[in-house]
Amino acid sequence: MMLKLVIIGGGSSYTPEIIEGMIDRHDQFPVTEIALVDIEKGKQKLDVISRLAKRMVKKSGKDITITASLDRRNALKNADFVTSQIRVGGLKAREKDERIPLSYGALGQETNGAGGIFKALRTIPVLLEVSKDMAELCPNAWLINFTNPAGMVTEALLKYGSHKRVIGVCNIPFNMRTGVAEILGCQTEDVEIEFIGLNHFVFGRRVLVKGVDYTSIVIERLKDPSNQYSPANIVSEGWSSTFLSSFMMLPNPYHSYYFKGAEMLEKSLKEYWENGTRAEVVQQVEEELFKKYDDKELTEKPTELEKRGGAFYSDAACNVMTSIYTNKGDIQTVNVQNNGTISDLPNDAVIETNAVMGGEGPRPISIGTLPLSIRGIIQLMKNMEELVIEAAVKGDRERLYQALVINPLVREETLAKDLMEELLDAHKEDLPQFYQQV
Ligand code: G6P
Repeated sequence: MMLKLVIIGGGSSYTPEIIEGMIDRHDQFPVTEIALVDIEKGKQKLDVISRLAKRMVKKSGKDITITASLDRRNALKNADFVTSQIRVGGLKAREKDERIPLSYGALGQETNGAGGIFKALRTIPVLLEVSKDMAELCPNAWLINFTNPAGMVTEALLKYGSHKRVIGVCNIPFNMRTGVAEILGCQTEDVEIEFIGLNHFVFGRRVLVKGVDYTSIVIERLKDPSNQYSPANIVSEGWSSTFLSSFMMLPNPYHSYYFKGAEMLEKSLKEYWENGTRAEVVQQVEEELFKKYDDKELTEKPTELEKRGGAFYSDAACNVMTSIYTNKGDIQTVNVQNNGTISDLPNDAVIETNAVMGGEGPRPISIGTLPLSIRGIIQLMKNMEELVIEAAVKGDRERLYQALVINPLVREETLAKDLMEELLDAHKEDLPQFYQQV
């Protein structure tokens, strides 16, 4: 039987992770073809990755065919699963998202603040095209999206896309689970975290280990700043005892940008003066990685990939695909449409939540109302995301301006206008929806 996976953005430096994930799970998820797809600009990287993928598969002895192509529509034919990991405008565009806000003294970050908003504006229209192609060419395939900002992109696809079999994934919930397992000295499989909220704005409300409530023990241990679960791109010094005892929830590493803003800004500026933006650091890491990937002797994923913040994202993606394929019915954390899971948010909002994962896709586990302590900020963040999505789809400057004004990392009306104009201009090439002739 054929089982085809298409990777959109196959030339990404993260691809060896997915290949490894597919090899490791081959007994349960016997993929027969992995089709790597990229755009003309990414051809060189795609070639390097496809050669490495072929060497990895050969070494594993698994019966998987690797193909590489620039023809997305052709590759999508007969796909069973599609993953998306694209970066519209490349790392150069990310550099602008990070540098321009910082130059105004505002936090600039790949998925947060003004930078994250502009990444969404560039990305959403491109993925809506992929969605259109999928509806036509592989209507039964599942799209597993980890293209950032994953929550907003997934919501845009589910609201405006032609293809509705879409699930968003992120490595943060996965990292938090493995981090908590380390803190408690137990196995990741035994840890369950009840996640509530939005992508990169998710909280862990309860920690269970083999069904026993460990929430207060984990909260207590998090007071020691050496107990962490931050990815490589976020340097966190931990949380105060007052904060942890009061909220009694596990924050995710991205909450530092919102609740430790002054400290994060100071750190980001220092980092920027010393090493440049994170995008520049990542470009260097990528250069080293691709040199390694091009080595004919290399037949496995090099450990250096762990210097990237998104490391282990593919575990989340591969687990989702395997559970759908095998109708496993286990619990996974995914980005899906709310549909009443959280009663304080709109039905069509995408939330990051635990879901039972089976053959028909995710079935979210009901949460009820949000805790009073975080209800408002989650509603605000979702409201901001809804404005961004509308702006991205319609090329609507009013919606964009409103999103920037209410974003907690901007929150100043004149700053919002200045950032909007400078970023729109800087990304002109990748934002055709804002420059169409009427
Ligand atoms: C985190 C996030 C990812 C993001 C990554 C950036 O782990 O969850 O969504 O892509 O960091 O990492 P980078 O190495 O590109 O800064």
